Amino acid sequence: MKQALEYIDKNRQNFVDTLVTLLKFKSISADSEFKGDVQKCAEFVKSKFESLGLSSRIYPTKGHPIVYAEYNNPKNKRTMLIYGHYDVQPVDPLELWHKPPFEPDIQGDTIYARGATDDKGQFLIHVLAAESYLKSGLDIPVNIKFLIEGEEEISSTNLEEFIKANHELLKADGVIVSDTAMYGRGIPAITYGLRGIAAAEIKMIGPDKDLHSGSFGGSVANPVVELARLIAKFHDDDKHILIDGFYDDVRELEKWEHDAYEALAYDNTDHLRKTGSPSIVGEKGYSTLERVWARPTCEINGIYGGYAGEGAKTIVPSWAGCKVTMRLVPNQTPSDILDKFEKYVKKIAPTTVKVEVKKLGGAKPAIVQRDNFMVTACVDALDKGFGRKPVFIREGGSIPIVNTFKEELGLETLLLGFGQHDDNAHSPNEKFSLSDFQKGIITVAHLFEGLK
Ligand code: BES
Ligand code: MN
Ligand code: MN
Repeated sequence: MKQALEYIDKNRQNFVDTLVTLLKFKSISADSEFKGDVQKCAEFVKSKFESLGLSSRIYPTKGHPIVYAEYNNPKNKRTMLIYGHYDVQPVDPLELWHKPPFEPDIQGDTIYARGATDDKGQFLIHVLAAESYLKSGLDIPVNIKFLIEGEEEISSTNLEEFIKANHELLKADGVIVSDTAMYGRGIPAITYGLRGIAAAEIKMIGPDKDLHSGSFGGSVANPVVELARLIAKFHDDDKHILIDGFYDDVRELEKWEHDAYEALAYDNTDHLRKTGSPSIVGEKGYSTLERVWARPTCEINGIYGGYAGEGAKTIVPSWAGCKVTMRLVPNQTPSDILDKFEKYVKKIAPTTVKVEVKKLGGAKPAIVQRDNFMVTACVDALDKGFGRKPVFIREGGSIPIVNTFKEELGLETLLLGFGQHDDNAHSPNEKFSLSDFQKGIITVAHLFEGLK
């Protein structure tokens, strides 16, 4: 693989140029206004695969397209399914970006753009590692099936159907995903757990229109007030969640996990810096890492209703609403938690307003093996790429499809992240380290060798 490593060394600038091109596509999956941009991004990814001599196809879905590509050499023993997503999160609030989100801006070792770390920069690492073999005239020592989707940020619903319908096409020995973070600067990590998610919306409806608060205030229920009171009953003062049965299926941390997280000596001061929050708050009895990695949450993502414009407006609002997401841990499931959520809201809801609960679906949590042939090869590859063996971590975020790989295809997943938690994923000024991008490509080139 010497030639591949030389190729990586010589093509650093070309790799960055490819990343810049990829980051220019406004592939925002959540917003239908960008449907054409998402499609164009898929076509670019396909053309990139074809430029490496791989056969590639775009599979349309009811939503955004899936890009598939294959490297198949009959000499190889193993086939890896490499998953990533080319869609990105919306960019608002735009005014907080230092440079426009789709005009990649390089400052020293850092590239700023929406999608830089989540997930364009990360899945591209695998494509460029494949390129380094193929363009230096080598065979890749493992067969590869690339599965790059356009709907991860909106829950991967159509990908799930695609997987169910394409077991044969996706047959492999394991899945590799780079869509998580390292433990810190220069500290590579293999992730063995992801939280799941369950989403819902609550609406409270009072008067059939906004009312004059002078003529009517104090005589009818105010939906904003009632919603605030309801939301306040989701947690107690120790930040335990009060939904009946919410913790029934939560697997408590095992002793070795507790000890292992302790040993990582997580720095809460650094947590304050990363979040910009004035305080650290969470469920009593657990450390910050435990709270984020291994405990479930019930989060209010947004609350709306009534007047929020300039100055004052004297009304009793007609209605109020909020969006809720709950992060789940093994062995909670979205359907069970959403049932419990709905029941609890109905139980504590005031009778003075109309209350509607809408379930918005979710994804199961995932725990993957900490030792198998992929992990063994990966530990060694990271040692070569980053000069250091990885630590084993969990993540608070979700990658909905990881569970489907296991349940539908019977495949284990290797979660090999190259991002950082302060890369501003989903936030303004998203970024990615170009040296980690380069080291990532070297790592994956070694990984391919180690997997053979
Ligand atoms: N790459 C993230 C998952 C992630 C988040 C990994 C944080 C490591 C740390 C992924 O793109 C993501 O944002 N997933 C969504 C899924 C949701 C939309 C169903 C998430 O976790 O909110
Ligand atoms: Mn992602
Ligand atoms: Mn994301």
